[in-house]
Parts: sequence; structure tokens; C-alpha cells
Amino acid sequence: MNIFTKILAFAAPALIAVSCTSVGDRPGWEYAPDMYYAKGYEPYSQPVEPYEYNPYGMSMRIPAEGSISLGHLDEVYAFENSGDGYEAAGNELIMPAVVNIDPEHAKDRFIIYCAPCHGETGKNDGPIFKKVSTLKPAWSGYSDDYIKNLPDGKIYHTLMYGKNNMGSHSSVLTPAERWAVIKYVRVLSNGGTAATAPTEDAMSETEDMKGDAE
Ligand code: HEC
Repeated sequence: MNIFTKILAFAAPALIAVSCTSVGDRPGWEYAPDMYYAKGYEPYSQPVEPYEYNPYGMSMRIPAEGSISLGHLDEVYAFENSGDGYEAAGNELIMPAVVNIDPEHAKDRFIIYCAPCHGETGKNDGPIFKKVSTLKPAWSGYSDDYIKNLPDGKIYHTLMYGKNNMGSHSSVLTPAERWAVIKYVRVLSNGGTAATAPTEDAMSETEDMKGDAE
């Protein structure tokens, strides 16, 4: 091996290593960019070739403020996150006559999202309240007169925005699920028997509603 071959043998891998690293603002070389950039459209992304007509060259425009996606009109909530909003929701927000959610599904949501604090039967004896008893509200559970006399609209408002140590549940429950969970709270207030006859399982109708044009 002569001296030049030796230099080349050492220099080549070093050269490759250097050329792969990025320097300052300059990105390094990309091998097989298809591995990083999807061929298909990805919503709200900046493709390799920016879209000239969209802000920031994004593949899609951010919807105008206040836009509601088709079939989600029921997600509009008119009451603001304040004491006045809470009172107004209590007076004006009425539970829909028919809630198209299977009561068993509502119970499951309750076990997942509410029981950790309020307990499976709503006696405020869930593992979190047991461990951190200072979190507990003043009322003893759902059979307390406070909850029995609490309007549905106020409970809905609390599920929307949360209240003190209780967080908002608006991202984990759809509007129909919120009402169905409130119905389940009423069942627990009543010692486990339905206050009103449970509505039939009409999940398929809810699915149909999603396709409706508003
Ligand atoms: C992290 C624990 C926690 C979880 C989880 C939780 N809550 Fe609460 N909840 C509280 C606390 C604390 C209060 C008392 C708030 C206050 O008045 O200070 C409360 C209050 C309430 C009230 C009375 C609301 C009012 O307007 O006074 C209802 C009804 C209720 N929760 C139902 C639910 C339901 C239904 C769920 C599940 C979707 C749930 N909670 C999940 C802690 C929790």
C-alpha cells in the first residue's frame, strides 16, 4: 500500500462523517429523504416544496377563528368560564330529551374519568380522594342534597371547564357523552336506580347525525 492509498483509506470515512453533519444553519445531507417526508399530504405541515398561496407554505390553511367542523354544531358552548356563566348554564342549559348514548357506555366513561376521585358509586371514596383527602369537596357524595339539587346545566358547565380541584373533561367526553354521564350521576344519586327510564341504545343514530349538513 503506498502512502496515497493509506491517506485515502483514512480520509474517505472521515470525509463522509464530516459531510453528514450539519454546520450552523446549513442542514446536513439527507439520504433517502422519502424516509422523512411523506409523499401524501399531511395536514398543517410544511412540505418540501411550500404551497405558495398558503401562509407559511403549509399544505392546508388554518380554519378561520370560530369555525365548526361539519356535524359538530353541538360542540358550540355559549356559556363563558365564569361565575356568571355557571349560574346562566344552571338556569338555561337543559338536558336534551333524548341522549343517544348507551347507558353502559356512559357508566364505562364514569368508571374511567370520574371514579378515580368520586368513587365507582359516587361516594367520594375513589383512590385519589382517599389518598389526598384535602381534595375532597365539602359534600359527601352524589346522594348529598347538594348534588340532588344541583341543576344539570351546572354539572355540564363543570364538566366543560372544571371547578377548583376538578379539571375540565370537555376533551375526553363528547357533548352527548357529557349528558349521558350526568344521567349516570343522577342514577348514583338515586342509590343506583335510574331516575328516569334509560334511553334505548341508539349509538347508530348518533353516528348518522355526524354526517348531517348543518
Ligand atoms: C381529580 C379528581 C376529580 C375527577 C377526576 C372528577 N371530579 Fe368531579 N369534582 C372534584 C372536586 C374536587 C369537586 C368539587 C369542586 C368544588 O366545588 O370545589 C368536584 C365536583 C363535581 C360535581 C359538582 C359540580 C358543581 O357544579 O358543584 C359533580 C357533579 C362532579 N364533580 C362530577 C364529576 C364527573 C361526572 C366526573 C367525570 C367526568 C368528575 N366529576 C371527575 C374532583 C374530581
